[in-house]
Amino acid sequence: MKLPQAVRCVFTAGLLFVFSWLRGADATFTPLAIGTSGTMREGVAIFLPEGLDAANLPYTPTLVEAPAIQDALPKDWRLVPTFSSDGKRCRATVKIGADDDLYGGGEVTGPLRRNGTSITLWNTDNYIYETDEGRRLYQSHPWVLGLRRDGSAYGVIFDSTWKAELDCGKAITFTSEGPAFPVLVIDRSSPQAVLQALADLTGKMALPPRWALGYQQCRWSYYPDTRVREVADEFRQRKIPCDVIWMDIDYMDGFRVFTFDKIGFPDPARLNAYLHERGFKSIWMIDPGVKLDSGYKVYADGCAQDVWVKTAAGQDYHGEVWPGLCAFPDFTRPETRLWWSGLYRDFIATGIDGVWNDMNEPAIFNVPGKAMPVDNLHRGGGEIPAGPHLRYRNIYGLLMTRATREGIAAVQPEKRPFVLTRANFLGGQRYAATWTGDNSSSEEHMKLGVPMTLTLGLSGQPFVGPDLGGFAGKATPELWSQWIGFGALFPFCRGHAAKGDNDKEPWAFGEKVERTARLAIERRYRLLPYFYTVFREASITGLPVMRPVFMADPADLSLRKEESVFMIGADLLVVPQWSKKTNLPKGLWREITLVPGDREDRDQARLLMRAGSILPLGRVVQNTTENSLTPLTLLVCLDDAGRARGQLYDDDGDGFGYEKGQYRLTTYVAQKHGGRIEVKVATRSGQWTAPLPETRVEVVDGNGQRKTGVFIP
Ligand code: GLC
Repeated sequence: MKLPQAVRCVFTAGLLFVFSWLRGADATFTPLAIGTSGTMREGVAIFLPEGLDAANLPYTPTLVEAPAIQDALPKDWRLVPTFSSDGKRCRATVKIGADDDLYGGGEVTGPLRRNGTSITLWNTDNYIYETDEGRRLYQSHPWVLGLRRDGSAYGVIFDSTWKAELDCGKAITFTSEGPAFPVLVIDRSSPQAVLQALADLTGKMALPPRWALGYQQCRWSYYPDTRVREVADEFRQRKIPCDVIWMDIDYMDGFRVFTFDKIGFPDPARLNAYLHERGFKSIWMIDPGVKLDSGYKVYADGCAQDVWVKTAAGQDYHGEVWPGLCAFPDFTRPETRLWWSGLYRDFIATGIDGVWNDMNEPAIFNVPGKAMPVDNLHRGGGEIPAGPHLRYRNIYGLLMTRATREGIAAVQPEKRPFVLTRANFLGGQRYAATWTGDNSSSEEHMKLGVPMTLTLGLSGQPFVGPDLGGFAGKATPELWSQWIGFGALFPFCRGHAAKGDNDKEPWAFGEKVERTARLAIERRYRLLPYFYTVFREASITGLPVMRPVFMADPADLSLRKEESVFMIGADLLVVPQWSKKTNLPKGLWREITLVPGDREDRDQARLLMRAGSILPLGRVVQNTTENSLTPLTLLVCLDDAGRARGQLYDDDGDGFGYEKGQYRLTTYVAQKHGGRIEVKVATRSGQWTAPLPETRVEVVDGNGQRKTGVFIP
């Protein structure tokens, strides 16, 4: 058969291109031998290419402690990277098994299972994930989790902050635009064990204040302050539980950070007091760009203290963001971080409860790639050496949130800081919670929120969620209703809306949707004792709050691609109504109801609990300043042997008393004796002296859910 001339030309050109590309790739990258290797602890190994000195590794913020080799690499160690370099870039390649499933990579679009994907690690303001087809987003996590067929797992950290490509093909390949870097490999018996090792290496989320687990309402922007009050009042009048109202950029005076608009927000302290009296917390936005305005104190002080990022020629760099031309704090400098922390003193003194750090990739308008020049200079200091933007962009957001968190903690040492960030890096869970940036009000993004949040959880960050209802675009009542029906169960649970788009508060779509929203949010509030227990577990172990179903049975291959159903902790399965052909973990999982009418509502996710577990439930409260454990309900689902077990963690909900024993961790066990189900306390730890909650038992079995069973104190 003779192919037409045009087809032959294209075919030949394609072959030539692939050939020259392959040759080029091989020719330009020459192997680098491994210079040093060994294990740091059981199941955790480190590999350094020749030329890297173990005692003098390049700075990254990823690891909480400098890596120290304890032992020689065991002879049967399976995953050994190879290194190569083209003189400028450095590459590490880890060969994987043909049947391995890959996950992680932090904030990504696309499927939960990452085989066959590649992403760029280059923090980017990516409105509706359109740039580069969502292959680079606001955060960078040079990390991959692998699962073998038998359910054993491994993880690889490429410890470099430079701009990089992460490719999950037949091998995992990480190509950094910077010099040589260490590779850490974790090899353990399960994904849980790998994630715990990741958390031991990169740190854990601090236990958040309990109020941060409630429902939160945002929009760009509630303006002026009377509108904020109205929104808060609506929640209370309509009896829709809510804990936080968010202040987006318009509260500022001309978008100058750490200022308040004199007309719209003349008295922030009074506004905060108003919110507090009604059981709300307030979170206010702070962006990194500081407006060029010599009459503006923050800018003038910043100039006097020489805090800004410089151009390669040593001038202050200026780029455009919301306020017009701005200067950007160089957070690699300890002096800058201290100065920035100090700015929060008067700000927080107005009664602000939490801070939202946005645009901190940092985003720059009207320039290619929305980024400052890669040769801009960060001057560093202390442990951080000076270096170009190409090296430090990916950790700009992390270092900013570190300074923010330290600033808030210094003003309110008795409170647990809450920071939300858009940009971050592997290990950034130590400083801030996160959301998945500017999604759109579309069915596609509604569904995408599940694998995105799961993937961040599998990358060390447990406190995550998308903008519920979608940020950009008009949400239809149907879409918004479906979204809240399962979205109320994301770890971070906040509704948001972009400027110019329709109102997206729970009541904005009419009575029917409002009812669905109320039910969904009430379910979250009933589950808060369980959520708080799971968050506390995450703060200790590093396990995700929201988990992929494969974690219920890592050897069950049918679960590896499931990305619409998810678990909260180990005992609760959430099946969104839109999710079809779901793969659920084997074993018995029973459907539960949490508030009257939830199972009849067509948009509520189905909730299934694991046989053998006990879920601690509170009563529906309007916000977390009310005690929801009046009474505590223990929802019991017995296993085949007629047994169940569950935990409740509780403390003051804020402050650090828990670190000194002011908490109560109770393990409950249930057992069937004939027709009677008894629940007892198996263990109790902590010295918290708050009165014990009145406790009731409900049992879920094949006959439904009944108030049978007794609690034996
Ligand atoms: C960015 C944020 C968005 C915010 C807006 C205005 O787009 O991602 O959440 O509302 O800026 O501050």
